[in-house]
Amino acid sequence: MYRNLLAVALLCLLTDGTYSDTNYRLNTPIVPARYVVHITPYFDMADDRQFTFDGIVSIQFTTTSNTNEIKLHSEGLNFTAADIYVGTYPANVSVAVTSLEFNANYSFAHINLASNLEAGVEYGLQIRYKGPIREDLNGFYRNYYIENGVKKWLGATQMEPTHARKAFPCFDEPELKASFQIRIDRPAHYKPSLSNTEIEKSEVLSNGYVREYFYPTPKMSTYLVAFLVSEFEAGAQVFNGTREFGVYSRPEAKNQSQFAFEFGTQVVDALGTYFGIDYYSTDSHLRLDHVALPNFRAGAMENWGLIKYREALLLYDPEQSTPYFKYRVGQIIAHETTHMWFGNLVTCHWWSNTWLNEGFANYFQDYITAIVNPTLGAENQLVIGSVYSAYSADSSSSSAPITNNNVNSPAEISGHFGTITYQKAGSVIRMIHHLIQDDAFKHGLNSYLKNNSFGSGYPEKLYQGLSEGVSAFNSLSTYSNTNIADIMSSWITQAGHPLLTVNINYETETVTLTQKRYYSNSSISSNEVYKIPITYTTQSSPNFENTKPVFIMEDRTHEFKIQNISQTHPWIIFNVQETGLYRVNYDDHSWEHIIAALKSNSNVIHPLNRAKIVNDLFALYTADEVDFSTLLSGLEFLHKETEYSVWYAALNGFRTLRNIYLGDESMTQPLKDLILSYLDSAISSIGYDSPSDDVEFLRNRMQILEFACHLGHSGCVEKASSLFKALRINGTEVAPSLRPVVYCTGLRHDSNHTDYDFLWDRMVTTNLANEKWVIADALGCTISERMAKSYLFSMLEPDSPIQAQDLTKPLTSVLSVPEHLNVVIDSLKTNYTVWSSIHTSMDSILSTVASYLHSEDDFNLFESWLASCAECNADSLTGTKAALVRAKATKDWANSHKAEILQALKGSTGSASLAVPSILTILVGLAGLIISKY
Ligand SMILES: *[C@@H]1O[C@H](CO)[C@@H](O)[C@H](O)[C@H]1NC(C)=O
Ligand SMILES: *[C@@H]1O[C@H](CO)[C@@H](O)[C@H](O)[C@H]1NC(C)=O
Ligand SMILES: *[C@@H]1O[C@H](CO)[C@@H](O)[C@H](O)[C@H]1NC(C)=O
Ligand SMILES: *[C@@H]1O[C@H](CO)[C@@H](O)[C@H](O)[C@H]1NC(C)=O
Ligand SMILES: *[C@@H]1O[C@H](CO)[C@@H](O)[C@H](O)[C@H]1NC(C)=O
Ligand SMILES: *[C@@H]1O[C@H](CO)[C@@H](O)[C@H](O)[C@H]1NC(C)=O
Ligand SMILES: [Zn+2]
Repeated sequence: MYRNLLAVALLCLLTDGTYSDTNYRLNTPIVPARYVVHITPYFDMADDRQFTFDGIVSIQFTTTSNTNEIKLHSEGLNFTAADIYVGTYPANVSVAVTSLEFNANYSFAHINLASNLEAGVEYGLQIRYKGPIREDLNGFYRNYYIENGVKKWLGATQMEPTHARKAFPCFDEPELKASFQIRIDRPAHYKPSLSNTEIEKSEVLSNGYVREYFYPTPKMSTYLVAFLVSEFEAGAQVFNGTREFGVYSRPEAKNQSQFAFEFGTQVVDALGTYFGIDYYSTDSHLRLDHVALPNFRAGAMENWGLIKYREALLLYDPEQSTPYFKYRVGQIIAHETTHMWFGNLVTCHWWSNTWLNEGFANYFQDYITAIVNPTLGAENQLVIGSVYSAYSADSSSSSAPITNNNVNSPAEISGHFGTITYQKAGSVIRMIHHLIQDDAFKHGLNSYLKNNSFGSGYPEKLYQGLSEGVSAFNSLSTYSNTNIADIMSSWITQAGHPLLTVNINYETETVTLTQKRYYSNSSISSNEVYKIPITYTTQSSPNFENTKPVFIMEDRTHEFKIQNISQTHPWIIFNVQETGLYRVNYDDHSWEHIIAALKSNSNVIHPLNRAKIVNDLFALYTADEVDFSTLLSGLEFLHKETEYSVWYAALNGFRTLRNIYLGDESMTQPLKDLILSYLDSAISSIGYDSPSDDVEFLRNRMQILEFACHLGHSGCVEKASSLFKALRINGTEVAPSLRPVVYCTGLRHDSNHTDYDFLWDRMVTTNLANEKWVIADALGCTISERMAKSYLFSMLEPDSPIQAQDLTKPLTSVLSVPEHLNVVIDSLKTNYTVWSSIHTSMDSILSTVASYLHSEDDFNLFESWLASCAECNADSLTGTKAALVRAKATKDWANSHKAEILQALKGSTGSASLAVPSILTILVGLAGLIISKY
């Protein structure tokens, strides 16, 4: 599954000391082998069957011990004891059902039997039931789209992690694998349904429906079952009996599927070669279809053979889509396709180890994409996209380890689909890849996949596979006394990641390394020790291509010698290309050498290491490991910098620092002067609108212009406004790569909300989902409080383009303009009931708002409202309270660091004098910055 990146604040699971209830586990002796699932959906019927379905599930099973109870999952499905039949199979000697009990808390159905089921005997269980075609984007749910003014309904599925039980009664745990035969009765005017496998046969029924029988799936987990009942068509496909592949969408969008088709067919072949198992060899009736849905909760989902996506993340229009989406579509197709092996063929045994699915998908989403299509910029995303997010999610004392044993309930399971499971595990896998090198890694993955095909993955089985690769290629032989299981588990079972501190004594040529767990809060410490693969390179013979570690640091400290450094005092840089998941600090003298090298000729240092220095310096300053003047001098080379990844790190740091001081003019003004002086240099060399095909170049220009316009850089604002006027007045289309900044900046001059209405109409009428996405992100930039307020409730309009999948988009877009915080709080005050009718979890809405509080006034406004809010049941707002605590900690940090920062900024040359004159000073700060999404 690919998480939806736009989700509002995910509520942190409180793992410390809270009791995780293991009664959520089925804990049953029953072992299912085969399911037949027969579904008959009713869409917009004029009777009481509307948006319901009839289901029949038949399950063939055995039991490992005698039992008179069948306990399985069922949620929101209607059946009684009379709808259940149990008998031996195939002889069909019936076993009487005495009673049926539902336990809604655990979503169990208990079927009690008159006599024991006996171990070793085969049984059949059949249940006839009815269920709703849901609205909440889980289980079997409905979607619609408008085609020529007609509302078209379709039925889609999302089962992972715990929603299969909402579509059919089942043993809904990943380890209880079985084969599934899907049968669907669909309305005759719909197109043939899709499921995991090919259609075996179909027949026309007397009621006008068409019944479609699908081939049995390979043995797999319940959460991978999928079907689609729709009028969708394939925009591009291979349909010839072998290597079948298709990209499906609403018919009007099918001309946007070419990129997904080309990239998707290449990626499934490339991964098959890399893993040593061809996709189509795993089962003779598997297809590989990719479906673009109008309404989908996650980003995408890897159902075996039938991958489902948000439309914006699968369909791509080369003339209209921003370059960001070209990368995203490639990345997400690669992510889901990787799951065909990691997740589908071999599945995490339980959600405590979801990383065995998602860590690999997260790694290969960029690794294989960089190989298949080097022009998408995926290589750098391994670091700035994954390693950087891992650091931020893993810097506090509440961060959970990658293997999280406190995962039992559905809420805990969903909560563990987070940055630790995806980006952190992906970054650990990348570190291990560089440690054991490609041949051993490939061999190891192949062993793991082959030995566990159609079965369950465990960390120990993965380590076993990798160690076979290590032995075959002798790839740990240069490191004494070590093995892959020990190295890896020090990262997988321990929370956090290390800060490596380097002390170089150039006179004695001795380097002393020390490690400790990194906490952004300098007052916290703990005792973890990680097994750190150490890489470094020196000025004497710079080599940023060799990423094979020199040694593995197993202890808290380590000392070693580097020859011939006493004469020339070369710079020495650790963690080459950031292949290791650790931050690096140096002693002052060593920093001086590195910073001098950056200033004189930064190009000798790899861009990912330049980015690392910038990213680490901000983090080190946050944790009081360096002072602000070191950070400032470490940034000076940015005046000459043009690389995307370095700017990504810099903008992240600047943005975070500025956000911390929002509302405090005495800080935001000098910070703005400093940041604009750098942005101005970058704009001078990058320009505003020269055409280019280079995805990274275009994304770099976008991130720089977005922040520059946000801060009121006059050139940027003028350029963007004129492009917006040309669009609105003359219909001159904006180059896709500039649309986010042009739309947002345009809305700042919206004196009478005609511009807002213009963009809203464009969002309603565009046929391109990612254009809709870009506009939805920009609408909150409106200067009009009235429009901002109405945008917050825009999903309530009839057939609103803001569908269930995007319910929180207006909120995050509006909050991206700091001045709109009042608008949001005011709306909560006056219309709380409207808010709570839209959003299922007000706790996550309010924690999102809390995370945007900065000034004393903000806190007073929000907290006094919360205290007086009768409707909002403040006791249950645990996430909101935690978010308030975090926001206040940030505020304390801001207060305690203010004097030092101001002092350093005054002393720094060039910031005040380079301040960019802005003719639009009054507008400064009003623009919305959409946090670096393009
Ligand atoms: C088994 O017998 C029951 C009742 O006699 C009947 O309804 C059901 O269809 C039979 N099942 C099979 C698989 O033959
Ligand atoms: C299931 O039963 C409930 C309670 O009787 C009823 O409200 C609901 O409509 C039923 N759902 C279906 C799909 O039959
Ligand atoms: C079907 O198409 C695939 C992909 O184009 C091709 O590799 C394969 O050879 C074709 N098979 C047949 C039987 O034509
Ligand atoms: C619209 O087009 C006309 C004619 O080409 C041009 O003179 C005018 O400046 C344009 N207006 C804007 C806002 O771009
Ligand atoms: C809004 O302003 C634009 C230009 O600023 C003007 O052309 C338009 O007529 C105004 N619309 C309304 C409804 O006042
Ligand atoms: C929000 O509250 C105001 C004032 O109570 C009311 O006029 C307005 O209709 C409400 N909006 C919605 C969408 O209910
Ligand atoms: Zn995934």
